[in-house]
Amino acid sequence: MADRVLDAVMSNRFWVFLITRQVVDFNSWPTMCHPVGVLETLTDGPGVVIPESFANADHPMRKVTRQVAFDGAWDAERAAKVASLFGGMAPEWAARSANPDRQASIVDALGRGQVDCGGTWLECGSGAGGNTHLLCDQDRNLVALDLAKEMLVHAPPDLAPRVQGDSSSLPFADDTFDTVLLVNMLLFPQELDRVLRPGGRLLWVNTLGDQTPIHLPVEDVMEAMPGDWTGVTAKAGSGFWLSMERQNS
Ligand SMILES: C[S@@+](CC[C@H](N)C(=O)[O-])C[C@H]1O[C@@H](n2cnc3c(N)ncnc32)[C@H](O)[C@@H]1O
Repeated sequence: MADRVLDAVMSNRFWVFLITRQVVDFNSWPTMCHPVGVLETLTDGPGVVIPESFANADHPMRKVTRQVAFDGAWDAERAAKVASLFGGMAPEWAARSANPDRQASIVDALGRGQVDCGGTWLECGSGAGGNTHLLCDQDRNLVALDLAKEMLVHAPPDLAPRVQGDSSSLPFADDTFDTVLLVNMLLFPQELDRVLRPGGRLLWVNTLGDQTPIHLPVEDVMEAMPGDWTGVTAKAGSGFWLSMERQNS
Protein backbone atom coordinates (compact mmCIF):
# COMPACT_ATOMS: atom_id res chain seq x y z
CA MET A 1 0.00 0.00 0.00
CA ALA A 2 2.74 2.43 1.01
CA ASP A 3 4.57 1.69 -2.24
CA ARG A 4 1.43 2.46 -4.28
CA VAL A 5 0.95 5.78 -2.51
CA LEU A 6 4.60 6.67 -3.07
CA ASP A 7 4.35 5.76 -6.78
CA ALA A 8 1.23 7.90 -7.17
CA VAL A 9 2.85 10.83 -5.46
CA MET A 10 6.01 10.60 -7.54
CA SER A 11 4.15 10.11 -10.81
CA ASN A 12 2.21 13.30 -10.14
CA ARG A 13 5.50 15.10 -9.66
CA PHE A 14 4.74 16.03 -6.09
CA TRP A 15 7.97 16.82 -4.33
CA VAL A 16 8.88 16.92 -0.73
CA PHE A 17 9.41 20.50 0.31
CA LEU A 18 12.04 20.52 2.99
CA ILE A 19 12.31 23.49 5.30
CA THR A 20 15.05 23.53 7.89
CA ARG A 21 15.94 25.98 10.61
CA GLN A 22 12.44 27.45 10.47
CA VAL A 23 9.06 26.47 11.80
CA VAL A 24 6.77 25.48 8.93
CA ASP A 25 4.20 28.17 8.17
CA PHE A 26 0.99 26.29 7.43
CA ASN A 27 -0.50 29.36 5.71
CA SER A 28 1.90 28.60 2.90
CA TRP A 29 0.93 24.92 2.77
CA PRO A 30 -0.75 25.11 -0.69
CA THR A 31 2.44 26.39 -2.32
CA MET A 32 4.44 23.70 -0.53
CA CYS A 33 2.86 21.06 -2.77
CA HIS A 34 4.34 22.61 -5.93
CA PRO A 35 7.19 20.72 -7.61
CA VAL A 36 9.79 23.17 -6.45
CA GLY A 37 12.59 20.98 -5.14
CA VAL A 38 14.29 21.50 -1.82
CA LEU A 39 14.45 24.92 -0.22
CA GLU A 40 16.36 25.82 2.92
CA THR A 41 15.40 29.00 4.76
CA LEU A 42 18.21 30.60 6.74
CA THR A 43 17.81 32.82 9.75
CA ASP A 44 17.33 36.49 8.92
CA GLY A 45 20.37 38.39 7.72
CA PRO A 46 21.42 41.85 8.91
CA GLY A 47 19.02 44.73 9.38
CA VAL A 48 15.71 43.13 8.43
CA VAL A 49 13.02 45.82 8.12
CA ILE A 50 9.52 45.67 6.72
CA PRO A 51 9.76 47.23 3.25
CA GLU A 52 7.99 50.51 2.69
CA SER A 53 4.63 50.10 0.99
CA PHE A 54 5.44 50.49 -2.71
CA ALA A 55 3.90 47.99 -5.14
CA ASN A 56 1.01 45.74 -4.22
CA ALA A 57 -0.29 42.71 -6.08
CA ASP A 58 -2.21 44.90 -8.56
CA HIS A 59 0.89 46.74 -9.73
CA PRO A 60 1.10 46.37 -13.55
CA MET A 61 4.73 45.25 -13.39
CA ARG A 62 3.80 42.53 -10.92
CA LYS A 63 1.39 41.09 -13.46
CA VAL A 64 3.95 41.33 -16.27
CA THR A 65 6.51 39.55 -14.08
CA ARG A 66 4.20 36.60 -13.51
CA GLN A 67 3.10 36.42 -17.14
CA VAL A 68 6.70 36.41 -18.35
CA ALA A 69 7.81 33.74 -15.87
CA PHE A 70 4.89 31.36 -16.33
CA ASP A 71 3.34 32.11 -19.75
CA GLY A 72 6.31 33.37 -21.77
CA ALA A 73 4.26 36.51 -22.44
CA TRP A 74 6.94 38.64 -24.06
CA ASP A 75 7.07 40.12 -27.54
CA ALA A 76 8.69 43.04 -29.38
CA GLU A 77 5.95 45.45 -28.37
CA ARG A 78 6.26 44.61 -24.68
CA ALA A 79 10.06 44.76 -24.91
CA ALA A 80 9.90 48.23 -26.46
CA LYS A 81 7.52 49.47 -23.73
CA VAL A 82 9.68 48.10 -20.92
CA ALA A 83 12.87 49.49 -22.47
CA SER A 84 11.25 52.91 -22.82
CA LEU A 85 9.87 52.83 -19.25
CA PHE A 86 13.23 52.02 -17.67
CA GLY A 87 15.26 54.09 -20.13
CA GLY A 88 13.30 57.13 -18.99
CA MET A 89 14.26 56.47 -15.37
CA ALA A 90 17.93 55.85 -16.10
CA PRO A 91 19.37 59.23 -14.99
CA GLU A 92 18.16 58.84 -11.39
CA TRP A 93 18.26 55.05 -11.21
CA ALA A 94 21.77 54.51 -9.81
CA ALA A 95 21.07 56.87 -6.88
CA ARG A 96 17.77 55.12 -6.21
CA SER A 97 19.37 51.68 -5.80
CA ALA A 98 22.28 52.96 -3.65
CA ASN A 99 20.36 52.46 -0.42
CA PRO A 100 21.85 50.32 2.38
CA ASP A 101 18.47 48.78 3.36
CA ARG A 102 17.90 47.68 -0.23
CA GLN A 103 21.43 46.52 -0.91
CA ALA A 104 21.60 44.46 2.30
CA SER A 105 19.82 41.57 0.56
CA ILE A 106 22.40 41.50 -2.25
CA VAL A 107 25.33 41.66 0.16
CA ASP A 108 23.81 38.88 2.28
CA ALA A 109 23.18 36.71 -0.81
CA LEU A 110 26.81 37.06 -1.82
CA GLY A 111 27.93 36.20 1.71
CA ARG A 112 25.61 33.32 2.64
CA GLY A 113 24.19 32.23 -0.70
CA GLN A 114 26.81 29.55 -1.35
CA VAL A 115 28.05 31.44 -4.38
CA ASP A 116 31.39 30.83 -5.98
CA CYS A 117 33.14 34.13 -6.68
CA GLY A 118 35.12 32.45 -9.43
CA GLY A 119 33.70 31.34 -12.74
CA THR A 120 31.69 33.39 -15.18
CA TRP A 121 28.91 35.72 -14.01
CA LEU A 122 26.03 37.40 -15.82
CA GLU A 123 23.96 40.17 -14.26
CA CYS A 124 20.69 40.36 -16.20
CA GLY A 125 18.82 43.65 -15.96
CA SER A 126 21.83 45.38 -14.44
CA GLY A 127 20.23 48.80 -14.84
CA ALA A 128 22.58 51.71 -14.21
CA GLY A 129 25.05 49.47 -12.39
CA GLY A 130 24.03 50.68 -8.94
CA ASN A 131 24.45 47.17 -7.57
CA THR A 132 27.09 45.89 -9.97
CA HIS A 133 29.88 47.38 -7.89
CA LEU A 134 28.89 45.03 -5.03
CA LEU A 135 29.89 42.17 -7.31
CA CYS A 136 33.02 43.91 -8.52
CA ASP A 137 34.44 44.25 -5.00
CA GLN A 138 35.92 40.89 -5.82
CA ASP A 139 37.64 39.98 -9.01
CA ARG A 140 34.72 38.50 -10.93
CA ASN A 141 34.50 37.51 -14.57
CA LEU A 142 31.25 39.44 -15.04
CA VAL A 143 29.06 40.73 -17.86
CA ALA A 144 26.32 43.31 -17.16
CA LEU A 145 23.34 43.12 -19.53
CA ASP A 146 20.30 45.36 -19.85
CA LEU A 147 17.51 45.92 -22.35
CA ALA A 148 17.57 49.72 -21.96
CA LYS A 149 20.55 51.38 -23.63
CA GLU A 150 20.10 54.50 -21.48
CA MET A 151 20.60 52.42 -18.33
CA LEU A 152 23.90 51.09 -19.65
CA VAL A 153 24.99 54.58 -20.69
CA HIS A 154 24.54 55.73 -17.07
CA ALA A 155 26.45 52.76 -15.64
CA PRO A 156 30.08 53.30 -14.67
CA PRO A 157 32.10 52.04 -17.65
CA ASP A 158 34.87 50.47 -15.61
CA LEU A 159 32.70 48.03 -13.60
CA ALA A 160 32.15 45.30 -16.15
CA PRO A 161 31.62 44.83 -19.88
CA ARG A 162 28.12 46.12 -20.65
CA VAL A 163 25.88 44.44 -23.18
CA GLN A 164 22.58 45.74 -24.50
CA GLY A 165 20.34 42.74 -24.96
CA ASP A 166 17.00 41.13 -24.22
CA SER A 167 16.99 38.38 -21.61
CA SER A 168 14.28 36.59 -23.60
CA SER A 169 16.94 35.89 -26.21
CA LEU A 170 20.35 36.18 -24.63
CA PRO A 171 23.30 36.77 -26.97
CA PHE A 172 25.37 34.01 -25.39
CA ALA A 173 26.05 30.37 -26.19
CA ASP A 174 24.52 27.51 -24.20
CA ASP A 175 26.24 26.74 -20.86
CA THR A 176 28.23 30.00 -20.77
CA PHE A 177 27.74 31.11 -17.15
CA ASP A 178 28.36 29.65 -13.72
CA THR A 179 26.17 32.23 -11.99
CA VAL A 180 23.38 34.54 -13.14
CA LEU A 181 22.20 37.38 -10.90
CA LEU A 182 18.76 38.97 -11.17
CA VAL A 183 18.08 41.96 -8.92
CA ASN A 184 14.49 43.17 -9.31
CA MET A 185 14.54 41.76 -12.81
CA LEU A 186 12.08 39.72 -14.91
CA LEU A 187 12.58 35.95 -14.92
CA PHE A 188 12.96 34.30 -18.34
CA PRO A 189 13.23 30.65 -17.26
CA GLN A 190 14.12 28.97 -20.56
CA GLU A 191 16.90 31.37 -21.48
CA LEU A 192 18.43 31.35 -18.01
CA ASP A 193 18.36 27.58 -18.06
CA ARG A 194 20.04 27.57 -21.48
CA VAL A 195 22.97 29.88 -20.64
CA LEU A 196 23.65 28.42 -17.17
CA ARG A 197 26.14 25.59 -17.04
CA PRO A 198 25.16 22.26 -15.48
CA GLY A 199 25.46 22.81 -11.76
CA GLY A 200 25.10 26.56 -12.35
CA ARG A 201 23.59 28.97 -9.85
CA LEU A 202 20.79 31.50 -10.15
CA LEU A 203 20.55 34.37 -7.66
CA TRP A 204 17.15 36.04 -7.39
CA VAL A 205 16.95 39.20 -5.25
CA ASN A 206 13.96 41.43 -4.50
CA THR A 207 15.40 44.40 -2.63
CA LEU A 208 11.98 45.60 -1.45
CA GLY A 209 10.72 42.11 -0.68
CA ASP A 210 7.08 41.64 -1.63
CA GLN A 211 6.82 45.37 -2.29
CA THR A 212 9.18 45.09 -5.26
CA PRO A 213 7.28 45.78 -8.51
CA ILE A 214 9.16 42.95 -10.26
CA HIS A 215 8.48 40.40 -7.54
CA LEU A 216 7.98 36.65 -7.35
CA PRO A 217 8.01 34.62 -4.14
CA VAL A 218 10.91 32.18 -3.89
CA GLU A 219 8.65 29.13 -4.34
CA ASP A 220 7.38 30.55 -7.63
CA VAL A 221 10.88 31.20 -8.93
CA MET A 222 11.83 27.60 -8.18
CA GLU A 223 8.65 26.33 -9.78
CA ALA A 224 9.12 28.41 -12.93
CA MET A 225 12.66 27.20 -13.60
CA PRO A 226 12.93 24.00 -15.68
CA GLY A 227 14.76 21.05 -14.16
CA ASP A 228 15.68 20.16 -10.60
CA TRP A 229 17.08 22.73 -8.22
CA THR A 230 17.95 23.15 -4.59
CA GLY A 231 17.65 26.58 -3.04
CA VAL A 232 18.66 28.56 -0.02
CA THR A 233 16.88 31.78 0.93
CA ALA A 234 16.87 34.49 3.58
CA LYS A 235 15.63 37.99 4.33
CA ALA A 236 18.06 40.86 4.85
CA GLY A 237 17.48 44.61 5.01
CA SER A 238 14.24 45.44 3.22
CA GLY A 239 14.48 42.50 0.83
CA PHE A 240 15.08 38.80 0.39
CA TRP A 241 17.25 36.60 -1.77
CA LEU A 242 17.13 33.11 -3.23
CA SER A 243 20.21 31.23 -4.37
CA MET A 244 19.36 28.18 -6.51
CA GLU A 245 21.71 25.48 -7.73
CA ARG A 246 20.78 23.21 -10.60
CA GLN A 247 20.98 19.55 -9.69
CA ASN A 248 21.27 18.13 -13.17
CA SER A 249 21.72 19.39 -16.72
C1 LIG B 1 13.67 47.32 -11.81
S1 LIG B 1 15.07 47.58 -12.81
C2 LIG B 1 16.38 46.89 -11.85
C3 LIG B 1 17.74 47.40 -12.24
C4 LIG B 1 18.87 46.91 -11.33
N1 LIG B 1 18.95 45.47 -11.30
C5 LIG B 1 18.68 47.44 -9.95
O1 LIG B 1 18.21 46.72 -9.06
O2 LIG B 1 18.98 48.63 -9.75
C6 LIG B 1 14.83 46.36 -14.06
C7 LIG B 1 15.89 46.43 -15.13
O3 LIG B 1 15.71 45.31 -15.98
C8 LIG B 1 15.84 45.74 -17.32
N2 LIG B 1 15.09 44.80 -18.16
C9 LIG B 1 13.75 44.64 -18.23
N3 LIG B 1 13.43 43.69 -19.10
C10 LIG B 1 14.60 43.21 -19.58
C11 LIG B 1 14.94 42.22 -20.53
N4 LIG B 1 14.00 41.52 -21.18
N5 LIG B 1 16.24 41.97 -20.77
C12 LIG B 1 17.21 42.68 -20.13
N6 LIG B 1 16.95 43.65 -19.25
C13 LIG B 1 15.67 43.92 -18.98
C14 LIG B 1 15.29 47.14 -17.33
O4 LIG B 1 15.74 47.90 -18.42
C15 LIG B 1 15.81 47.67 -16.00
O5 LIG B 1 17.08 48.26 -16.12
